[in-house]
Amino acid sequence: MPDFTAFQTPFFQARFAGRPLALAVLAAFLFFASTAPAVEPETVSARTDALLARMTLAEKIGQLTLFTGYSGITGPVKEQGQQSLLKQVCKGDCGNVFNLISVAEIKKFQKVAVEETRLHIPLLFGYDVIHGYKTIFPICLGAAASWNPALIESSERVAATEAAAAGLDWTFAPMVDIARDPRWGRICEGAGEDPFLGSAIAVARVRGIQGTNLAAPDTLLACVKHFAAYGAVQSGREYNTVDLSERMLREVYLPPYRAAIDAGALSVMSAFNELNGTPATANRFLLQRVLRDEWGFQGFVVTDYTAINELVMHGSAADEGDAARQALPAGVDMDMQSGAFLNHLQERLAAGQITEAQINAAVKRILEIKFKLGLFDNPFRHCDEQREQQAFYTKENLATAYRLACESFVLLKNTNQTLPLKVGKNIAVIGPLADSRRDLLGSWIAEGKADSCETVFEGIQRNNPGAKVTFTAGCDIDSTNRAGFAKAVTAAKRADLAVLVLGESCEMSGEAKCRTSLGLPGVQTELLREIKKTGKPVVVVLMNGRPLALEEESQMADALLETWFPGTEGGKAAADVLFGQHNPCGKLPATFPRAVGQVPIFYAAKNTGRPLDPANPKDVYKSKYLDCPNDPLYPFGFGLSYTTFNYSEVRLERATLKPGEKLQATVTVTNTGNYAGAEVVQLYLRDLVGSVTRPVRELKGFQKIELRAGESREVSFSIGENELKFLRADMTVGTEPGQYEVFIGSDSRATAVAKFELLAR
Ligand code: NOJ
Repeated sequence: MPDFTAFQTPFFQARFAGRPLALAVLAAFLFFASTAPAVEPETVSARTDALLARMTLAEKIGQLTLFTGYSGITGPVKEQGQQSLLKQVCKGDCGNVFNLISVAEIKKFQKVAVEETRLHIPLLFGYDVIHGYKTIFPICLGAAASWNPALIESSERVAATEAAAAGLDWTFAPMVDIARDPRWGRICEGAGEDPFLGSAIAVARVRGIQGTNLAAPDTLLACVKHFAAYGAVQSGREYNTVDLSERMLREVYLPPYRAAIDAGALSVMSAFNELNGTPATANRFLLQRVLRDEWGFQGFVVTDYTAINELVMHGSAADEGDAARQALPAGVDMDMQSGAFLNHLQERLAAGQITEAQINAAVKRILEIKFKLGLFDNPFRHCDEQREQQAFYTKENLATAYRLACESFVLLKNTNQTLPLKVGKNIAVIGPLADSRRDLLGSWIAEGKADSCETVFEGIQRNNPGAKVTFTAGCDIDSTNRAGFAKAVTAAKRADLAVLVLGESCEMSGEAKCRTSLGLPGVQTELLREIKKTGKPVVVVLMNGRPLALEEESQMADALLETWFPGTEGGKAAADVLFGQHNPCGKLPATFPRAVGQVPIFYAAKNTGRPLDPANPKDVYKSKYLDCPNDPLYPFGFGLSYTTFNYSEVRLERATLKPGEKLQATVTVTNTGNYAGAEVVQLYLRDLVGSVTRPVRELKGFQKIELRAGESREVSFSIGENELKFLRADMTVGTEPGQYEVFIGSDSRATAVAKFELLAR
């Protein structure tokens, strides 16, 4: 028996001192379930070094390898199977596993790793817990519409607690890719188009996932993805090329990753895409210079699924061995599913193409995290069957999901106060999504089950006892079958009003789910036209994973409520919001275009040399389209309420600001309607003249406030260097003296404006 006491811990010492394993596990549990002390950094480093010194080259490469288990499939799987994966773990060839679920499965694999491998190094178990594990929250784009980072953090706490109870250590989240192209199916996984909002949400997600102590029983290791600029794929087509200026990269795309890392995220996933000619997975500029040298990232980098293999198809590596040779020195530590490190690092080392120091550095980063997670102290720290039985779908977890769903809904239109619905009216509920359970959950559902979800139709029935509520789908989500139209029209004619639940299926969003059209699929718009002809008031409830171009639909609807894919409690929440049990308060985290041809369209655009004057839209030599206005259907930050809010003028403390000083900008917001409601007060700044051109406005602050009917509140924002700095012409970050405009209001078109001057140093 080797002497490994230098890096081992009470768990191992008990186990290998000859005590029965069961006792050791039990003792460890009793200890760790109550409190898990954070593992001290010095101890981590010393223990890692001691372990590293004992490892063979093959054992080291095993730690750099991550293979999929077979409980979940999230990419192309090579012919392998559970048994051969177990053998690889046993041989020490695979030090990390993902897509294995349940305590029983994880325990089985961990037992092999810690009992049968020479150095007893525990496995790390990862999974895509993207918007919930069992209790499913709204898709991330929907959650972003809440503009409530604290609530998003709570949702991640719930997700991490449930996933940890299922034995997992690591989630491939948060996805923080800025996306300005709704054709891209993965826009649903992020926080939308804006780096400021995206950064605030990235921080919240990391805090929720990792908590304050990585070794605690209910926290997971976060993995910030997909590094970098995956959301900028050309034409919104999955896995496509990204070609971005360094300025655009640094100003728009990088801030959320940076924010997540500053918040303590200890793993990063490299993206599938190339960036300016070099695939992200072999990109030294990204993985070394930006991530480690500039940002001081201390964790490890894992690739996306088979991304090392794909360097060959990208055309940047001759073969798989060459790909491994490029990826490791570029800064990749762990190979997800390519097997390229496993198959080729030894030979490339022997050929002098990589160094053992590079391998050691990568192994060290991974082992350090395993120490920090407390895996060496107790490899079964998350394997408690009893806890697993009790952790899911608790009342509190469901309450958080319900609240986030309510806050994620965006009221896009509400003429004649069509909403909230009045109890007692006969309602024809129509549409292919009205009684769908599965679609409520969205694209990444981890272990979420739809069986017990209340659908929107069921929720409307519950809210409207005694009245007649009928359901008929009218059509499918995506087919040309119009056979159900007649029944739907009859139902609408017999009712006082129609509620149509329309949109995309949950399978139309997510990885590899891109679209060239942004309309409602199938014949849903035609169905809406037919219902509109009945003359009955029409409420449209949307479920979808991306901004859609619904100009005609929005004209036909008397009220339009965006509910995204709202999660386990989402159908219930949507019905309750329709009946006014909660007042909608979501705001769009991404612009809704009028037409797909406007894409990419986002509020923080540049002015151009020939901006169109809205008062003179026919002016010929101006930046515009012949067949569509420039402005979007619904702008970033937009969302109505059942009540109305009035904004005062913006009051600035002073008209000038010296470098280093702060300036308060204040508005008074009044609830002028009849309902209590929440409002997201948004601050936008414009730097009028810069050494490089600046966007027409940029979000620099927001506050979500609640006001009773008639209530007023002063809302102040502090403006200083942080809000004014940018990437100047010489690529340094800092401020420049000059004039600024301050806009405060309820969306990115806010008109309340004030001006100040930033003085020279
Ligand atoms: C591929 C996806 O791009 C990534 O987001 C995910 O985490 C991995 N598959 C693992 O499932």
